[in-house]
Amino acid sequence: MPWLLPKPIPEASDRMLQRWLGELAEKLSDPSTDRYALVRDELARILHARPYAELAEIAPMAAFALDARNITFEAEHYIATDSEKFDRVKPLLWLWKTLDLTPLGQSVHSGVAIRRMLAPFIFKRVGRNPKFFQNVEFSVGYNLELGDDVVVHRYAFLDDIGGLVIGDRSSISDYVNLYSHTHHVLASPDVTLKQTLIGSGVRITYHATVLAGVCIGDDALIGTSAVVTKDIPPHAIALGIPAKPVRYKVRHDCPYCRRGEPHPSQCHDRLPDRKPNPDYPDFLKPGFGTREA
Ligand SMILES: CC(C)(COP(=O)(O)OP(=O)(O)OC[C@H]1O[C@@H](n2cnc3c(N)ncnc32)[C@H](O)[C@@H]1OP(=O)(O)O)[C@@H](O)C(=O)NCCC(=O)NCCS
Repeated sequence: MPWLLPKPIPEASDRMLQRWLGELAEKLSDPSTDRYALVRDELARILHARPYAELAEIAPMAAFALDARNITFEAEHYIATDSEKFDRVKPLLWLWKTLDLTPLGQSVHSGVAIRRMLAPFIFKRVGRNPKFFQNVEFSVGYNLELGDDVVVHRYAFLDDIGGLVIGDRSSISDYVNLYSHTHHVLASPDVTLKQTLIGSGVRITYHATVLAGVCIGDDALIGTSAVVTKDIPPHAIALGIPAKPVRYKVRHDCPYCRRGEPHPSQCHDRLPDRKPNPDYPDFLKPGFGTREA
């Protein structure tokens, strides 16, 4: 018996929501659409019940905050961000974030539907039925790849600046942090981008953190509050800081285990680590480094 119950809203309300989402998706599919103008117009109507131009007349600062051209994201302050790619997704990330603050975004039914519509226009790849709850954060969005039926719960942080792949049916719980960049211990501006890979059927449970460059094997489970610093094998249940496998799920039906073959997460092409700022001065002269405590 499934434990998730469908919870429909009144039919007429759902029709109205679906019509609005369909119109928005159509406009976003048109490459000639000015995404910045579209987003500020939609937000002006939803938040202030009037066209953007009228809002700008009577409440200039309210209008100012709805136009993504007037705001900056943290990612835009980093050299690692591809400004051309980010410019395409920025207004949509602003729409996503701003609607999260509204009743439309806080309701599961409309919030999930809005984010599902926006996902293919923001992410690098999206499979079927992405399900995002409210207040999820991304660094750039355009470097995130999702398989089918991925679920991401409230307040998760998906740092995709170095590339983040999440496989089919994986679930990311509340307050999880997945990173794909790291800083040199002696010089924080010395950044390394490391692609992070979450396999298929993985569960990363609440408040866990996954550091950049890690691969979490298919069907693994990461216990609550764990900090994952190294690759985790398929089917492992990994706990603690640093996360270590304490048990393995027994899966007699796993074709890869049966055939003694590597699992798909172990054969996934990995991007090499990259330095977004290769010109960073090489200050690590002899005599600098770390020593045992
Ligand atoms: C990983 C997890 C599933 C283990 O559950 P379990 O198999 O029932 O394990 P138990 O509760 O019997 O605990 C076994 C041992 O591991 C310890 N332990 C359990 N969870 C731990 C964790 N997250 N970190 C460190 N140790 C943990 C227990 O204290 C116990 O230690 P002991 O043998 O010394 O007494 C559970 O800890 C967890 O993280 N659950 C997250 C809930 C979840 O699914 N969230 C997703 C919802 S969206």
